[in-house]
Amino acid sequence: MSHIQLHQLCKTYDQSTFAVEDATVSIEKGEFFILVGPSGCGKSTILRMIAGLEGISAGELYIDNQRANHLLPSQRNLSMVFQNYALYPHLTVEENILFGLKVKKVKKLERKKRCEEAAKLLGLTNYLKRKPRELSGGQRQRVALARAVVSDAPMCLMDEPLSNLDAKLRGHMRTEIRQLQRKLGITMIYVTHDQVEAMTMGDRIMVLKDGKVQQVGTPLEIYNKPKNLFVATFIGAPPMNISKATVDRMNSQLLLKNDLIIPISNEEVRQIKSDTVYIGIRPEQISRGKGESRDVDFSVQLSNVEVLGNETLLSFYIGEDIWKAKWLGQWPLDLNRQTNISFSIEKLYLFDGDTEKTVISPAWNETVLKEVLSVESR
Ligand SMILES: Nc1ncnc2c1ncn2[C@@H]1O[C@H](COP(=O)(O)OP(=O)(O)O)[C@@H](O)[C@H]1O
Ligand SMILES: [Mg+2]
Repeated sequence: MSHIQLHQLCKTYDQSTFAVEDATVSIEKGEFFILVGPSGCGKSTILRMIAGLEGISAGELYIDNQRANHLLPSQRNLSMVFQNYALYPHLTVEENILFGLKVKKVKKLERKKRCEEAAKLLGLTNYLKRKPRELSGGQRQRVALARAVVSDAPMCLMDEPLSNLDAKLRGHMRTEIRQLQRKLGITMIYVTHDQVEAMTMGDRIMVLKDGKVQQVGTPLEIYNKPKNLFVATFIGAPPMNISKATVDRMNSQLLLKNDLIIPISNEEVRQIKSDTVYIGIRPEQISRGKGESRDVDFSVQLSNVEVLGNETLLSFYIGEDIWKAKWLGQWPLDLNRQTNISFSIEKLYLFDGDTEKTVISPAWNETVLKEVLSVESR
């Protein structure tokens, strides 16, 4: 059963431009659903329309199969966690956690019980009498989570809840939030601009740009089968390497600025409708040394080498574009030296030079992967 449905949801603040345009998706019960995209793409607007904090300009919102466009926030049965935690500085942790329940007139004994449970779940038992200013950033974040937990709402909306935390704590809280969501079985809609959070936390991801939905899918679907150039470069770090190439139909090949030639099949040429294409290759698909038959070989001058301990990032120019290769292990190579690299044509993405839609992407089959995993786990 779908829990939350958006049907061509639109929002305009100024009656002339769309902050959100025609967003359509069904979110399942118990799903961890992520809205991701660059700043200003409309993520918070969608979340706030679902919460009832922002009016809906056009389209329909359904919660539990009931039209919810005009329900008050309090009638929507959801909890919300904001980026700035929205804690009351003059109230104790306990009072902050219970604030919503008091407003809802939940009985005192029940309040106490729920608070104790939530505090235990989030490791706040010893901090209940403190004020927010006496807590670390991570602890404050947990108070905000505890407030969502005690509400007992079957769905929770979170707007960039981790962006004020340092990198290590963020990693830790990612796991904690995901575990909490599984344990409580709640439906989560989670907003982030961080593609790592999207990839690691979500059951499914919606990628947005300029108020428009670019793609909805599982993290691996989005990573392996991006629908267009924007999704391909937004998801993945370092991002997919991209260069523009001219299509030489006579000789079935793609020509890049630095005289690099990529041979492709006649069938592939036929699929390309434009005169130019963007070629894309992920950094981890670029290998050291000369390749084998259907591989593209080239020699590049390294412009930067970043040894990260367990992997090495190498930068070099392809025409005017900086590309990166990611190799496992430690490769403290000299800058400016010529290095042989290669990639397999099978791993190449091609995007239409005009529409930027994906024309060709490497073979990837999720069902095969699932079968392999299920055989292995037997
Ligand atoms: N209250 C508002 N009044 C006018 N414009 C707004 C308001 N809130 C957001 N916007 C505009 O709507 C667009 C989407 O904003 P928002 O949903 O906050 O994006 P995100 O959360 O993805 O960063 C932006 O162009 C932003 O400037
Ligand atoms: Mg926002």
